[in-house]
Amino acid sequence: MAPKTKYDTISEIAKRRGFFWPSFEIYGGMSGFTTYGDLGTKLKRNVENLWKEHFVRRQGFLELEAPVINPERVFEASGHLENFKEYSAECSQCGHSFRADHLIEDKTGLENVEALGGEAIKRMMVENKIKCPRCGGQLNEPELFLTMFKTEIGATGGEVGYLRPETAQAMFLNYKRGYIHNREKLPFALVQSSKVARNEISPRRGMLRLREFTIMELELFFDPEDPACPWYDEVKDSVIRLYTEEMEAQEVKEPKVLTIKEAVDQGLILTEWQGYFMGVSQKFITALGVPEEKQRFRAHLPDERAHYSAQTYDHEAELDTWGWTEVSGCAYRTNFDLSNHMQASGQNMEVLREDGTRFVPHVVEPSYGLDRLTYLAMENNYERNKKRNIFHFPRELAPYQVAVFPLVTKDGIEEKAEEVRDLLLKKGFWVVYDTGGSIGRRYARVDEIGVPLAVAVDYSTRDDDVLTIRDRDSWEQVSLKIKDLPDALESYYKREKDFLNLGEKVVRT
Ligand code: GLY
Repeated sequence: MAPKTKYDTISEIAKRRGFFWPSFEIYGGMSGFTTYGDLGTKLKRNVENLWKEHFVRRQGFLELEAPVINPERVFEASGHLENFKEYSAECSQCGHSFRADHLIEDKTGLENVEALGGEAIKRMMVENKIKCPRCGGQLNEPELFLTMFKTEIGATGGEVGYLRPETAQAMFLNYKRGYIHNREKLPFALVQSSKVARNEISPRRGMLRLREFTIMELELFFDPEDPACPWYDEVKDSVIRLYTEEMEAQEVKEPKVLTIKEAVDQGLILTEWQGYFMGVSQKFITALGVPEEKQRFRAHLPDERAHYSAQTYDHEAELDTWGWTEVSGCAYRTNFDLSNHMQASGQNMEVLREDGTRFVPHVVEPSYGLDRLTYLAMENNYERNKKRNIFHFPRELAPYQVAVFPLVTKDGIEEKAEEVRDLLLKKGFWVVYDTGGSIGRRYARVDEIGVPLAVAVDYSTRDDDVLTIRDRDSWEQVSLKIKDLPDALESYYKREKDFLNLGEKVVRT
């Protein structure tokens, strides 16, 4: 039996405690779909909110929510109907299909075989004598397979539609409205965090490759003759680890370590806007709990790059089970999409400069898979300590903010604990209330779901209104009055105070 991976460990806890589990379980399951429980739903939402803090709120970018089902002509114009395809190899015996580049990777240990292109994939399938992983049967020559879900809009004979594989097209279709709402000024961005669907041929790696998932995308529209980003100074000196297209082609092993500004000035990153978003991306992924040395940026080779992109850098993080893994892509989409929709729809997408010249805006797009990031946050904050599982979630991510425990359920202690719980609920905190088992077991239970703070209510609380808060990470305790608790928690969650400043340190004897 294959050894247990970190992904297996985390998936087990996720299922047992209610973060996430495979969908359609009672009907035997179906790969490529996941269902979030209470903790996972909250964690995912907090990751999304943290993304919006980094990419939307401070910049004043505009949000959008558009349909998942789109008529065929949207994807005809966008180029997806022609290009959103992968090489699929079907087994001549059992009829199952597999992604050809992934089969080659499994057999040879090579990475990123997709980037080598169709002819190389077909040749390598033969050279490596690859057989069906299910039944050992002969595989047919790989063929391109459209990975969009097709549907019909309306009754039989209605219009053909597709579930969107990215949210970006809605930003292009609605760009003119966004431009008007932004008082007809560039640059501006439209942002969408919403569901998409991709009919993956043979999804694997659980949470990393889903057939239905949440994508967080931002389309930044700018004038290519005025390409400056107003927030560039905030990130230009950040040091990143970069693999350029040329380094990829030459299979260079060590990254260039340089500042964003150096990379932009040397033309390794084509636009300041990409540099800006890559810098913000590094801050965001670090805020999820991933150290910088486990992050890098890797350029797509031309055969790997999406049809709309002039340059794409993947932001990758190193995962315990699968090594370097894409967590986001930052693409320079030029005016490809707007020009295509302008031509196909007959609607003018141009903008007038002050000097009277007209142009179709260019687009830079950072795009994130939210489900993947949720797993990334779990893996990077997980610790096994003295036979206990602990998720050291940063305070912004924790599904629940505070636990309240009565020391005992007699002598009026439970009633006092309920009062504390109700006070915190009234003040808007996410609270876990637990009366079951020893206090040690209760601490262990909330450590395992990553609750940063736990409040114990005991006889001093009943008699003098004094309670203690225990810190998940250091196991230190501080004491304070009930009336000071809501403000203390508020400053903690706004990062105005650290744990030991929330009250009087309790010296353990
Ligand atoms: N819009 C980015 C992607 O489709 O992956």
